[in-house]
Amino acid sequence: MSIARRMTDIAPFHVMELMARAKALEAHGRDIVHMEVGEPDFPTPQPVIEAAQRFIASGQVRYTHALGLPQLREAIACFYQERYGVAVAPERIVVTAGASGALLLALGVLIDRDDEVLLADPGYPCNRHFVRALEGRAVPIPVDASTAYQPTAEQVAAHWSSRTRAVLVATPANPTGTLMALPQLAALRDVIRARGGTLLVDEIYHGLTYGCDAETALALGDDLFVINSFSKYFGMTGWRLGWLVAPPQCVREIEKLAQNLFISPSAPAQYAALAAFRPETLEILEARRVEFERRRDTLLPGLRVLGFEIRTEPRGAFYVYADSSRLADDSFDLAERLLDEAGIAATPGLDFGSFGPQQHMRFAYTVASERIEEGLVRMTHFFRARQ
Ligand SMILES: Cc1ncc(COP(=O)(O)O)c(C=O)c1O
Repeated sequence: MSIARRMTDIAPFHVMELMARAKALEAHGRDIVHMEVGEPDFPTPQPVIEAAQRFIASGQVRYTHALGLPQLREAIACFYQERYGVAVAPERIVVTAGASGALLLALGVLIDRDDEVLLADPGYPCNRHFVRALEGRAVPIPVDASTAYQPTAEQVAAHWSSRTRAVLVATPANPTGTLMALPQLAALRDVIRARGGTLLVDEIYHGLTYGCDAETALALGDDLFVINSFSKYFGMTGWRLGWLVAPPQCVREIEKLAQNLFISPSAPAQYAALAAFRPETLEILEARRVEFERRRDTLLPGLRVLGFEIRTEPRGAFYVYADSSRLADDSFDLAERLLDEAGIAATPGLDFGSFGPQQHMRFAYTVASERIEEGLVRMTHFFRARQ
């Protein structure tokens, strides 16, 4: 059997492998503090569960429209109006299998073989593999704390080539938790538009911001793509549901691709998600956001005391991206030792790109504050023992 050549370029998602190792240790009785997982630890909000149960009990669990349930697309449009004061036509909203499905559809209609997509490095690992799977080329823009780990308009211009078709950014970003303000997004959009390219903005961590509000790129107009999901803020990772807001002239192309790739998004997940925007659900989600903020405020100073350097405060998502170079030469080795010797699972920089991965680790505050405190105590002992 011959495997497609592209597969040699598709790297495993190391965090999933680390998680599997942590689970194996747990199966042997070890207590592990999980700070590797980019997944909220809270259960699905009760109103969402009940909506799903009612729908499944009807027995009418069938394909839906390829672009999603009209009433869900409507509900998402209302959410943009209510939360951001931005009018988005429901016809531009495509319901997808998570932000992952949205990214695949958006890139699928934009890029051809050898076309280039500019991405922040460090950034969400799967993005470069989406591009590769579509026979395109992901071009990293190295970003550091001086620009809050976000690419600037000047950097985009400097990395632009005749094959560049699109720029994909995330705000708040994974792994750094940093945001882009609307003027920064506007500057990016202008540079990209002037070159005939397209801006894609991944807003999956919207709703999870601390001390500030994230602004949606949709406020800039309708000539860009916005990706979002029910996974993070809405706490519905396993339901596999997200959405894409597309320029009006692309919706038909996306519809054709979605019909062929997926037929339709999950019907139970869509009916469940109808309850995600109800006031009683939003109240639960706000309490969780406050809890995430509390955890961040425990983890961030704790990591600094240990000797990790965090040059840009994360103001969103649920990650701290920390420079570990004062503590270890290689963060991959450090992550393995923290797991084996201290029972702490955290993600080495390796997953997030090739710009300084050995110097960085990502800690996710997707566990209870007490577990974060326990993790900090264990790390204190671990580093003391090595001095
Ligand atoms: C920045 C970013 N985009 C997209 C995704 C994919 O999320 P989903 O579960 O909605 O497919 C993730 C998941 O961690 C992410 O961090």
